[in-house]
Amino acid sequence: MSEVLKATAIGPSNIAFTKYWGQLDSVLVLANNDSISMTLGTCVARTTVCFSSEYGEDRVTLGFMGGEDVDVVGSKSARVVAQLDRLREMAGVDLKARVLSHTSFPEGAGIASSAAGFSALTLAASEALDLEFGRKELSIQTRLAGSGSACRSVYGGFVRWRAGETSETSCAEQIAPADHWQLRDIVAVVSKGEKKVSSLGGHRLAPTSPHYARRLELMPERNDRVQEAILTRDIEKLGVVTEEDAVDLHVMAMTSNPPVYYWNEGSVRLMREVREWRGEGVPCYFTFDAGPNAHIICEKGYEEEVVQRVKSLEVASSVLVNEPGEGSRVTLDHLF
Ligand code: PMV
Repeated sequence: MSEVLKATAIGPSNIAFTKYWGQLDSVLVLANNDSISMTLGTCVARTTVCFSSEYGEDRVTLGFMGGEDVDVVGSKSARVVAQLDRLREMAGVDLKARVLSHTSFPEGAGIASSAAGFSALTLAASEALDLEFGRKELSIQTRLAGSGSACRSVYGGFVRWRAGETSETSCAEQIAPADHWQLRDIVAVVSKGEKKVSSLGGHRLAPTSPHYARRLELMPERNDRVQEAILTRDIEKLGVVTEEDAVDLHVMAMTSNPPVYYWNEGSVRLMREVREWRGEGVPCYFTFDAGPNAHIICEKGYEEEVVQRVKSLEVASSVLVNEPGEGSRVTLDHLF
């Protein structure tokens, strides 16, 4: 009789107000600094993992919204298979797997698809293998998948990744639940092209920037300010630090060896405009991950206004709106 172990999970993406950039340990995926993010409500991945004695090899298939399902191979599937291997070993299971993952947003939309994908994969696989991790352990196991920022997606709402110094102490924790503050992350997609340097490459290059050491000194105070701003729902306080830290990340990238330029004309235009809009009474602030697409943070009441203003600039091919969302969770709604 064939043996089948199957589960499905939803993993959300997240947007960081203070960024994880540079690693203390690349094998254990330990960060050099704490980072704080908001878990996203609409940009999620749904992933079904099935281990079966019927399968002769692992197969990984990804589908982005509006695109076809594509089997991924080489380095793209290697991280997924490595995570399956780790979990299989922990569970003492030796069955090959089929993984199908669908994301609710288009490819290259400037949304951290790895955070969504790896948080969904880790939860679905551990559920199928009956590993019964608590949330803290799930955050650690998700981090070990390789995309460190994914460990924040285990929790909903507003989340801090405590960098720690060992694998057991490096995990995320919730600062406040999703309904604590009606913030919005409005993503202006100014480029759909694939990143020239992945965040993995960026983490490696970070210490080659002369500004890196200084940023690490600033981070504890920056994180405290962001946490305080979230707890007191202070958009100005949050926004000022968020812009500071996003610009720092890009300054480090542009001054690393070799340098990396993630911004394009649309990104720079949006930075200038967002600052103007604030002068006109619209409290909104920008941030960027390791890419050109702008994330504009504002409170719910200004959502329509910001979306209209972004659209009127005609620099964005699409505009996606996210509210704070729930952390990774199991669902019975399998993809196959
Ligand atoms: O988790 P990674 O290795 O994909 O790195 C994420 C890096 C940033 O998105 C730029 C920052 C962050 O904290 O999300």
